[in-house]
Amino acid sequence: MMLKQHLLFVLCSVCGTVVKEAATKNKAKGSQSQFPVTQNVTVVEGSTANMTCRVDYNDNTSLQWSNPAQQTLFFGDKKALRDNRIELVRASWKELTISISEVTLSDEGQYTCSLFTMPIKTSKAFLTVLGVPEKPEITGFTRPAVEGEDVTLTCITSGSKPAADIRWFRNDKEVQGVKEVNATGRSFTVRSTIHLKVAQKDDGAAYTCSVEHIALNSTPHQVTEVLEVYYAPQVEIVPSLIVPQEGQYFKLECTSKGNPLPDRVLWTKDGGVLPDVERMIVEGRELIITNLNKTDNGTYRCEARNHLGTNSDEYALFVYDPNALTQHGPDHALIGGVVAVVVFITLCFIIVLGRYLARHKDITRERQEMWFISSRKTLALPIITL
Ligand SMILES: *[C@@H]1O[C@H](CO)[C@@H](O)[C@H](O)[C@H]1NC(C)=O
Ligand SMILES: *[C@@H]1O[C@H](CO)[C@@H](O)[C@H](O)[C@H]1NC(C)=O
Ligand SMILES: *[C@@H]1O[C@H](CO)[C@@H](O)[C@H](O)[C@H]1NC(C)=O
Ligand SMILES: *[C@@H]1O[C@H](CO)[C@@H](O)[C@H](O)[C@H]1NC(C)=O
Ligand SMILES: *[C@@H]1O[C@H](CO)[C@@H](O)[C@H](O)[C@H]1NC(C)=O
Ligand SMILES: *[C@@H]1O[C@H](CO)[C@@H](O)[C@H](O)[C@H]1NC(C)=O
Repeated sequence: MMLKQHLLFVLCSVCGTVVKEAATKNKAKGSQSQFPVTQNVTVVEGSTANMTCRVDYNDNTSLQWSNPAQQTLFFGDKKALRDNRIELVRASWKELTISISEVTLSDEGQYTCSLFTMPIKTSKAFLTVLGVPEKPEITGFTRPAVEGEDVTLTCITSGSKPAADIRWFRNDKEVQGVKEVNATGRSFTVRSTIHLKVAQKDDGAAYTCSVEHIALNSTPHQVTEVLEVYYAPQVEIVPSLIVPQEGQYFKLECTSKGNPLPDRVLWTKDGGVLPDVERMIVEGRELIITNLNKTDNGTYRCEARNHLGTNSDEYALFVYDPNALTQHGPDHALIGGVVAVVVFITLCFIIVLGRYLARHKDITRERQEMWFISSRKTLALPIITL
């Protein structure tokens, strides 16, 4: 190195003084010590941060760590600031490592490692402290809601740094919310709102607020709110038979939805009470007629009610006479006959058409050989099948 510098000195004698100065500097660096080396550190609040400062060559010069407020933390292995959280990990001529436990957001900032040479050489290390978002909370749901009501769900999480991200899911399908970020001290309060006009389909829907943040290691904080929506009843009558006949066991089921679920349904016949309590039994939502009689003809009505409203469905019962149904036998025969005739005529038509086309083919064959070849397949096929 010395030789090289001397060579440089000889070659560049014109700018002598400048080179001379540079040479002295290099000489100083070579024989004395290097710059301290530090690294930026990122930790999650509450954990421990290790601040390491290293020098490769050191002729017994002390190393020092100081905090962002320029207070000396450690001078060599000597503790300078009374803070139980700050401890010495390693102290040697080549390294000074300290640890700061239970790190808070206020510990963030630029730390300095100094090597007490003349002049002092320093290196900066930035300590970044991540704020862990608090468990989110969903507010704004006055349960249960009534159908048609406007509901605003708000999810709030505070304490994150940098600001956390909030995502909404409706039954595991993502929905868009409106995010708002406010700085509160050194951390952030993040809120996200979604607006919905609740409908019947929202009854039982699960809305999940998911808070995502680097400090959470891809396991987001989640909270779920299951909506309960009140809605008026909806009823429908389902008969057990399509063609009820005299003497049969017959059942009408009144399927009713609604929240609160109507606890009972009301059956009436032709606007009045059920006429025959012996044969007409109401069991829960079902009306059972044990032995159908022609006299049971009429309009049956099922009605359900909750505090939001009333709904009903009607069923017109028409009791068929089993004998009349067998007497209708000839009618079926007639229909069958008509169908047979139609099928027969259709078949005849196809045969005639086939014959005609075949004949037409014979004529054209003489005239146009080429045309015949191309059309042969399509014409011949139906004739063979018939
Ligand atoms: C800090 O240093 C100590 C001692 O070497 C070690 O046990 C600990 O795991 C280190 N912590 C971190 C966060 O690197
Ligand atoms: C550094 O100090 C040690 C004793 O603490 C001594 O043995 C060593 O020679 C010193 N080195 C220099 C370069 O002064
Ligand atoms: C350390 O952090 C500071 C402040 O954030 C930044 O300016 C600097 O570039 C970082 N240094 C390294 C080596 O990442
Ligand atoms: C956030 O700031 C806005 C105005 O900047 C204010 O209206 C809102 O109430 C604040 N929210 C919180 C959670 O502090
Ligand atoms: C139907 O009711 C009438 C009168 O109530 C009764 O005479 C008749 O036997 C019943 N028919 C059947 C099939 O039960
Ligand atoms: C009930 O309907 C059947 C089916 O046609 C009919 O024969 C009978 O006369 C009806 N009875 C009453 C009481 O309406």
